[in-house]
Amino acid sequence: MSTAHGARVLVVIPTYDERDTLPGTLARLRVAVPAAHVLVVDDASPDGTGELADAAARTDDQVHVLHRAGKAGLGTAYVAGFRWALDAGYDVVVEMDADGSHQPEELPRLLDALDDGTALVIGSRWVPGGRVENWPGHRELLSRAGNTYTRLALGIDLRDATAGFRAYRATALRAIDLGDVASQGYCFQVDMAWRVTRTGGRVVEVPITFVERTAGRSKMSRAIVAEALWKITAWGAAHRAAQLAAVLRPRRNPSTGTHDEARTS
Ligand code: GDD
Ligand code: MN
Repeated sequence: MSTAHGARVLVVIPTYDERDTLPGTLARLRVAVPAAHVLVVDDASPDGTGELADAAARTDDQVHVLHRAGKAGLGTAYVAGFRWALDAGYDVVVEMDADGSHQPEELPRLLDALDDGTALVIGSRWVPGGRVENWPGHRELLSRAGNTYTRLALGIDLRDATAGFRAYRATALRAIDLGDVASQGYCFQVDMAWRVTRTGGRVVEVPITFVERTAGRSKMSRAIVAEALWKITAWGAAHRAAQLAAVLRPRRNPSTGTHDEARTS
């Protein structure tokens, strides 16, 4: 039930048509981090992944399943999983794909990096030591370009803000208004990293090897890329506007009721 550090860990795995990959991922996770609990969040997968997850839950009381009515996006699946985790009182909440791209054997390293002063650990492909295996060139290009754009737009110093293999402290998730998170697709990852940063949480990146799936298929779509592009642009613009307003706005001095000189910060 607990890790070496005594923390209760829940690994949230969103699934949509992952019949061929989920069982192997669950089995590897059990070996790699025996104490961790798992929550599969399935969106009524037509291929029967939800029933497979139910069968796993019947034989393993560390496996739990959340069924949703239909495909509603990776972002909303994670928000539902996070709420479930916080209600159940877990200390650490992990994000992991079902398809084998995130290797359960690397999870202990992420958990080790989640020390007391850290809110979020990101398993990063683009820090020294991180890499991708068998990823199509167009996906690598999209990921690198997306991360460069994110760094410039938001002014955050993360190499892999879109990465989906992560460990959050529950306290960091509680500091965020999850009801306010509207990202449906993969920009959810950027959204969350950005929110953790803005609530003062420390984010650490550790290198991982991301292995392209060998079964099933990616749910990446043009709509997901479009959502990411316009949302990250809008967040960046709002952030820059707020910075500018803070510089230009005369500060009210609470003790005298007069205005101070405009300050930059
Ligand atoms: N419940 C649910 N609902 N699960 C979903 C949905 C959905 O609408 N869409 C995707 N998933 C699940 C998949 O079944 C898989 O377990 C996981 O989310 C990741 O989906 P993939 O379709 O395999 O994502 P990817 O490999 O293209 O993208 C990965 O890398 C991106 C960065 O390059 C993911 O880790 C993304 O989160 C990440 O942003
Ligand atoms: Mn994948």
